Amino acid sequence: MKILVVFYSWKGKTRLVASSISKVLGADLKEIKEIEERRGPFSFLSAGYSAARGECSKIKPFDFKLEAYDLIFLGTPVWAMRPAPAVNAFISKAKLKGKKFVLFATMGIFGGKKTISIVKEMIEAKQGRVVSSFIVIKTGGVKREEMIRRAEEIAKKFIKQGRKEVR
Ligand SMILES: Cc1cc2nc3c(=O)[nH]c(=O)nc-3n(C[C@H](O)[C@H](O)[C@H](O)COP(=O)(O)O)c2cc1C
Repeated sequence: MKILVVFYSWKGKTRLVASSISKVLGADLKEIKEIEERRGPFSFLSAGYSAARGECSKIKPFDFKLEAYDLIFLGTPVWAMRPAPAVNAFISKAKLKGKKFVLFATMGIFGGKKTISIVKEMIEAKQGRVVSSFIVIKTGGVKREEMIRRAEEIAKKFIKQGRKEVR
């Protein structure tokens, strides 16, 4: 089974989780990147505002084809209890029909469940299939090693039980 782990990350936590998962699964790892860098004193507010409105940001063209994969892990940070605008953009641009997804999100404290349900709806609206999802809880105040441990644990659990659901 060919697996892709694709993610967006602003501050690096979702990247850390995604790369830990991909290592355990032996999956390809790809990052969704925005064209404009988010910086400056109002960047946090504008990011949250844009996410709250369900907007798509401008993302760089991706150098991979989802068609090449049997299963896609898609990860987003939680912004204002929603997916990041770059992930909205990815979903709106990519061909998802018939593709199988496992969803994950990283969050400071709360909003992961709602975020995952929004991503699921968007994927299903484009005829993709969500076969499983999980939330990597609380990156706020959590040490790097602990985040890696959680991500690896989830990926190992997926290998043990989850693949069954995926067929
Ligand atoms: C604009 C913005 C909005 C956020 N909103 C939430 C939120 O609603 N709930 C939450 O628990 N964490 C929230 N966070 C925290 C992030 O979800 C968390 O730090 C995440 O792990 C960051 O991922 P990253 O390092 O890959 O960017 C927010 C962060 C940003 C930048």
